[in-house]
Amino acid sequence: MFDAIAPRYDLLNHLLSAGIDRRWRTRAIRSLQLSGREVLLDVCTGTADVALQARQAARVVGVDFAGAMLAIGWRKVRAAGAAGRIALVRGDATRLPVADATVDAATVAFGIRNVERPELACAEMARALRRGGRLAILEFGELRVPGLRTLYLWYFKYLLPWIGRAISGHGAAYSYLPASVRSFPPPAALVALLEQVGFRDVRAVPLTFGIVYLYTGRRS
Ligand SMILES: C[S@@+](CC[C@H](N)C(=O)[O-])C[C@H]1O[C@@H](n2cnc3c(N)ncnc32)[C@H](O)[C@@H]1O
Repeated sequence: MFDAIAPRYDLLNHLLSAGIDRRWRTRAIRSLQLSGREVLLDVCTGTADVALQARQAARVVGVDFAGAMLAIGWRKVRAAGAAGRIALVRGDATRLPVADATVDAATVAFGIRNVERPELACAEMARALRRGGRLAILEFGELRVPGLRTLYLWYFKYLLPWIGRAISGHGAAYSYLPASVRSFPPPAALVALLEQVGFRDVRAVPLTFGIVYLYTGRRS
């Protein structure tokens, strides 16, 4: 699915979120408190937006299993002159191609919901991180403000899939988005899962009225 929508993925991301997606990624990267010398593992890197935004804060290894997403990401990395700071690797989030305790920080932006076995991906990130290493996960949540919530649900369930279908030409992908958000575990469940696989100080912070949650934690 991601290979099929890759050519229009960035455009739709920025359009459908009115550009706020960039700010959400900035918030996640800032939470990692990087100094420029660390290695950051960006899981489900897609078209490398987190990697590009984080390149001054760390050297980045981005992993994704969709070749077409990575190809677009790599073009963007080269165009930005960032090939010396960013490596993109094709691989599975549930079997990360990284040795134990070798990365200083890890991120997943809007990817964990898409992984079939998110508990394996979380355990893999715990394995790859050194002790004390920081984690930041961005994922959609459910807007809770009454009134606004009705409007948002209408947008998310009807308008967004319609725009997504019209621009990407892919029928299922943008209907899958609201369906996958609805079926994803609530914030407290993801917090519990992260604690189970070896993270401490785990927090779920709502961003933009809870449309998105930023999950942070440290490797125990
Ligand atoms: C919604 S995109 C997010 C991309 C990027 N992180 C961003 O912020 O725009 C989700 C990505 O997760 C990737 N993905 C889903 N399951 C995966 C898995 N098991 N292993 C690696 N990548 C996966 C997809 O290929 C896709 O590129």
